Amino acid sequence: MKIIQAATKEQMSKLAANILIDCVKNKPDAVLGLATGGTPEETYRMFRQNVKEKRVELSRMRTFNLDEYEGLGPNHPMSYHAYMKQHLFDPLQLRPSQCFLPKGDALNLEEEAQQYEELIQKYGGIDLQLLGIGENGHIAFNEPGTPFTSRTHVVELTPNTRDINSRFFDKKEQVPYRAITMGLATIMEARKILLLANGERKQKAMTRFIEGEIAEDAPASILRKHRDVTIIADPPALTGINPDKITEVY
Ligand code: PGA
Repeated sequence: MKIIQAATKEQMSKLAANILIDCVKNKPDAVLGLATGGTPEETYRMFRQNVKEKRVELSRMRTFNLDEYEGLGPNHPMSYHAYMKQHLFDPLQLRPSQCFLPKGDALNLEEEAQQYEELIQKYGGIDLQLLGIGENGHIAFNEPGTPFTSRTHVVELTPNTRDINSRFFDKKEQVPYRAITMGLATIMEARKILLLANGERKQKAMTRFIEGEIAEDAPASILRKHRDVTIIADPPALTGINPDKITEVY
């Protein structure tokens, strides 16, 4: 596991955007796994900028997002579909046929989860998966206790996750109770993983992830068994990490 310490969130985002760009440049038909939330917003901005400046060809790239809230259709402003359209798909004029997210408004969510899992396999699996980390150590919506063997599934969000995510909604009551998420085994099959974390509020989760036991109460800890993981984080998020484990500093 490579741990890169970036001086600021801006630096973190720049390094992350470069990794995403390199992936698509080296493999124009790359399959990118994408994340939502506050962490990657700046990464997407820099990615867009890089694509324009370096004229990177994206017509053969595909994207698969990690998760989506139950009941929020693609036009709902708080859906992850809407987030991705705003930050990436529309500005880069990606075709809907290139970009996949689980359908949170599907009639049968369990069936949708299974089909999404199959779709990822059909496109050859994920080349590079971008991840954030929750304050409770979740990755995607895999909350603590999720089996390491899990595939794309329907999940009950913890009260804590609903609370934290309520900052994106007008009222807490609007935050859905369930979501569809890629599972931990699904994420582990990505050929390369890039996890971003910034800010003091991620410190506890990062320490548990990197320094603690590999166990299901810390979903991110399974990533330590993956052979190609890069973590980019700022100093506040890395405060609890043994400095010997930090491989690069920017
Ligand atoms: P955040 O969310 O980027 O908004 O902090 C991360 C997560 O919950 O995975």
